[in-house]
Amino acid sequence: MSVLNGKKILLGISGGIAAYKTASLVRLFIKAGAHVQVIMTPASKDFITPLTLSTLSKNPVFSSFYNKDDENEKWNNHVELALWADVMVIAPATANTLSKMTNGTCDNLLVAAYLSAKCPVYFAPAMDLDMYKHPSTTWNFDLLMQYGNTIIPAESGELASGLSGEGRMAEPENIVAFIEADLNSKLPLKGKKILITAGPTYEAIDPVRFIGNHSSGKMGFDIAECAANLGATVILISGPTHCKFINSKIRLVPVVTAHEMYVACHDYYSDVDVAIAAAAVADYKPKHIASQKIKKVDDNFTIELAKTKDILKSLGVKKKNQYLIGFALETENEIENAKLKIQKKNLDLIVLNSLRDEGAGFGKPTNKVTFIDKDFAIEALSLKSKEAVAADILNKIVKHFDSI
Ligand code: CTP
Repeated sequence: MSVLNGKKILLGISGGIAAYKTASLVRLFIKAGAHVQVIMTPASKDFITPLTLSTLSKNPVFSSFYNKDDENEKWNNHVELALWADVMVIAPATANTLSKMTNGTCDNLLVAAYLSAKCPVYFAPAMDLDMYKHPSTTWNFDLLMQYGNTIIPAESGELASGLSGEGRMAEPENIVAFIEADLNSKLPLKGKKILITAGPTYEAIDPVRFIGNHSSGKMGFDIAECAANLGATVILISGPTHCKFINSKIRLVPVVTAHEMYVACHDYYSDVDVAIAAAAVADYKPKHIASQKIKKVDDNFTIELAKTKDILKSLGVKKKNQYLIGFALETENEIENAKLKIQKKNLDLIVLNSLRDEGAGFGKPTNKVTFIDKDFAIEALSLKSKEAVAADILNKIVKHFDSI
């Protein structure tokens, strides 16, 4: 999956012949899963029409500060457009637009949006070879890079002037590949390996029955997706679930029983930087599994249960440098019980769910959690989607690695 999947890209087009290639560029961004909005300088409309770009991007295209023809909505808000973007791409970036952006000459909507942007900005310059080599152009490149922007080098080849040399805008495929590689190299969890347990476990009673629980696996899968999107390699050890993931950096290890989950966790644990136990592991399993289906003979029926191994606790015992996160589901004395679990299982962080909180728990799309770290610092979060809780957990992990 592309790192651009789900990203909001603001594409700025300035007035050069390479503007005709931005139709392909928009298509490639969309194909990578990005949302695209386009700002055109007035001059660029001589090279490609706003209609083409709005059709391909499935969004209105902006090119002036206000719409003369629209009585109701006159103002095109450059600040809003800039803050909407996760990534801004100026392609083609002409010598004129580069110069304006270097100096903050704010005479069109694109430059105004650029000056308001807080996201990474990429420039794909396009101009004739002598313009590309001119000291004022290289000076502008240096300044733009000093401002924190990234230049996608122009390519060599035949130019619109008929001359041949460096200055052609990078091909759309190469622009996309450049941005993907650059974003991937800057992901905060790049190079980190994370083990995650998810879902329920099933403990067989006989060949057709089992003891299970209502865990959907969603919380663990959301954490896995979020971790992979931040660049981590993820080993997702999950009990039976209907949840799906899309990021190819996730390796699913399907298990059924608590024992299988225990074995799988220990197979991978020594090699990981982080382990997160989000599974709802059965605490007890039938002491004996009947080899044949049990018949209903007696009025009462008793199953003798034996304790399963506490996987998280065993990871805490074996812990070296791993950052270890557990979940706690409590119904009373939540904070005190969670603190005891941190100590008992040698955790770095516990994510506490209280069943007393509405909207939290099994089978719900939302969760309300409290973080408690090993120094007992407490952070109570509001009710939010499980995706948002996953992002908060990953944020904690990123901060942990930033601090060491
Ligand atoms: N856990 C585990 N292996 C088990 C039981 C639990 O890895 N056999 C993990 C869960 O994934 C969770 C944490 O331990 O991250 C807390 O589980 P919970 O059931 O709330 O607590 P327990 O320690 O089992 O204690 P109790 O059920 O008595 O509250």
